[in-house]
Amino acid sequence: MDTKKFIEQKVNEIKDTLGDGKAISALSGGVDSSACTVLAHKALGEQLKVIYIDDGLMRKDEDKYVSQVFSDMGIEVSVIDAHKDFFSVLKGKKDPEEKRKAFRNKFYEVFGEAVIQSEAKHLIQGTIAADIIETQGGVKTQHNILEQIGIDSEKGYGFKVIEPLKDLFKHQVREVAKALGIPKDLYQRMPFPGPGLATRVIGEVTQERVQKVRKATQIVEQEIAVLKPFQAFAVLLNDKGTGIDDGKRNFGDIVIIRSVESQDAMTAEPTQVPWKILKKISQRITREIPSVTRVAYEVTPKPPATIEYI
Ligand code: XMP
Repeated sequence: MDTKKFIEQKVNEIKDTLGDGKAISALSGGVDSSACTVLAHKALGEQLKVIYIDDGLMRKDEDKYVSQVFSDMGIEVSVIDAHKDFFSVLKGKKDPEEKRKAFRNKFYEVFGEAVIQSEAKHLIQGTIAADIIETQGGVKTQHNILEQIGIDSEKGYGFKVIEPLKDLFKHQVREVAKALGIPKDLYQRMPFPGPGLATRVIGEVTQERVQKVRKATQIVEQEIAVLKPFQAFAVLLNDKGTGIDDGKRNFGDIVIIRSVESQDAMTAEPTQVPWKILKKISQRITREIPSVTRVAYEVTPKPPATIEYI
């Protein structure tokens, strides 16, 4: 791929589509939406408003991190705190696809309001090829797929969607991000799914359960960073296992550690994590999250498993 040519072409396309109109960019802090936002900013400058939704399902201190990195690049980010709305639509839902669809609806509702308020008509988002292939193929409902499965965003939410990266795979997006001057620690970041930690909580997504998986994810990311896996995280199961706490029986939570190697997220192999690192992660998770009594490492490739658990 000729990255420079790709950027030039997309910048021109965005300019042509928007004219002097305004647009909103949906930024999550992942590689895809970050590359997309910088690209759109290059094309539109002040005509672009960049919005980060705090849905309560992101990694620890993510809003501060994202605002800082973008401010360093001269791009202002507006943070919308919508975490209560997201937890309220997820309340009581246990089915994976129901959770995904509830997340998607709320996500676009919040952006729909922001688009209307700022008199924009377009939402620019970082959908990539794998997202579309998997949703169309019926693997799962990716949060950012609408038009490809017949949902009219204009009728449903009041804006048109622009997806400059929709033909690229992850490694190509990283090249684009690098060429756009995005800092290395951002463009090399592990992928993080749009519905965030909701994909890593099996069963009902409550603030308390998300808090546990957020902490466990932070521990996994810290301890596994030296291996530079494609993606690594923790999952909270909706089941319990017996443990011992202060000499007494504790029927507690079970956390799965997942780490995979992949190029495009379409297939993946489990990372061969050294025993020492796994033991350290297990010790830290059970110590730092006292409700957890068991930690297991998952060894299934994709396929047959997917990378995320829902
Ligand atoms: P799966 O679980 O399908 O994940 O093997 C493949 C890659 O996609 C990410 N993923 C998502 N990304 N919205 C996203 O933006 C989503 O709804 C979503 N679901 C999964 C996942 O983290 C992995 O990198």
